Amino acid sequence: MDRLSPSSAPNSSLTGAFGATTATSNLRPAGNRPAGAGLSSPQVQSLLHRPEWLLGTPLLPSRHASMLPGELPLIISVGGGKGGVGKSLLSANLAAKFVRTGLKVVCFDLDFGGPNLHTYFGVDSRGMTLTDVVVTGQKRFEDVVLQTPLQGCTLIPGARSEAWGREGSVDPAAMGQIYDAVLGARSRFGADVVILDLGAGTQFHTIDMFLMAHLGIVTALPEPTSIENAYMFLKTALWRLMDHVGARSRKLRSPQLIKAALNASDSQGFQSRGYAERIRGLSNQDPEFIRYLFASLAGRRAGIVINQARNQQDANVGGSMELIANRYFGFQSQFLGYLNFDDVAWKSLRNRRLLAIDFPQAILSHRLNDIASRALNLFGI
Ligand SMILES: Nc1ncnc2c1ncn2[C@@H]1O[C@H](COP(=O)(O)OP(=O)(O)OP(=O)(O)O)[C@@H](O)[C@H]1O
Ligand SMILES: [Mg+2]
Repeated sequence: MDRLSPSSAPNSSLTGAFGATTATSNLRPAGNRPAGAGLSSPQVQSLLHRPEWLLGTPLLPSRHASMLPGELPLIISVGGGKGGVGKSLLSANLAAKFVRTGLKVVCFDLDFGGPNLHTYFGVDSRGMTLTDVVVTGQKRFEDVVLQTPLQGCTLIPGARSEAWGREGSVDPAAMGQIYDAVLGARSRFGADVVILDLGAGTQFHTIDMFLMAHLGIVTALPEPTSIENAYMFLKTALWRLMDHVGARSRKLRSPQLIKAALNASDSQGFQSRGYAERIRGLSNQDPEFIRYLFASLAGRRAGIVINQARNQQDANVGGSMELIANRYFGFQSQFLGYLNFDDVAWKSLRNRRLLAIDFPQAILSHRLNDIASRALNLFGI
């Protein structure tokens, strides 16, 4: 697969957004970074600060004129398309493992329909949320940020705005502010890792926040509706990625042409060849755009998590999803692990305590730990 080297970056809109770019580098195995050392090691930063990753991120209005290597946090988003599949449970409990590894974490509750990440941490949002920052403009992010019971982990509580639940209703300027806060979280909040807890559905603002992460986790239950939604989520992400690559490389027509060709073949019935293969077959449309598209896919990771597994067969769904996400949709995906169904999930919620603190010995807590470790290992941490 072609890799996009800094010298072959399409134009200044790619390199200019973050200033200088670093050389690309393949993933290396888990490192032995001492706890608390932060994310400053050149090896880790070279995995985060990649032109391929930037190429697939949304071109939102942003005050970030330049971002130097060493300044980016590791960005992990948790999505999945369907409601109630465990996105928030996973988001909060990933943070628990990360802080134990010595990393500083900021969680953003980006579920604009029903923000409740604060409940998973057992904290009260004190009535101040993202709304006060990006809708009314009455507060700064620094004013609304909450300390969680985890030392080293803070939370930006989610916006409570009816309007934001609807497609296209999130003001791009508001998204730009969130984008800035996420990218600048190292200097603004001292964060090594940013966790974005996404809402259900495939609205553009949700998909954009999934794509701006270095690792986008797709959470699904081992049941047909949830798996279907997860695939719809990946398809929408691929469609949206084409738009971002088109915008960043100033090839606005190419995504439209490719999508029209894919939709035309879809309308003929079931296609055994996946989107990735069919897109490669369309190389003659615009070889440069297709090369950038695959570079942007290679510049980010998709993690698969199966939740509420009741038996081995349920757990095995993760491996199949990894394969399909990879072969059919073209994402560099990895099955990160499964979570067993366990009543401790709702018991801890009812106790208003973080699961990892309330039931540290539960198998579910250990599985959450394992998933968090695998996520970090992808980045050599
Ligand atoms: N492994 C599990 N075992 C038992 N119950 C679980 C498990 N994971 C999650 N739950 C329960 O499922 C419900 C939904 O979980 P959660 O809020 O994390 O989902 P979500 O994907 O964030 O939902 P939404 O899209 O509404 O934000 C909660 O009541 C939670 O306690
Ligand atoms: Mg949630």
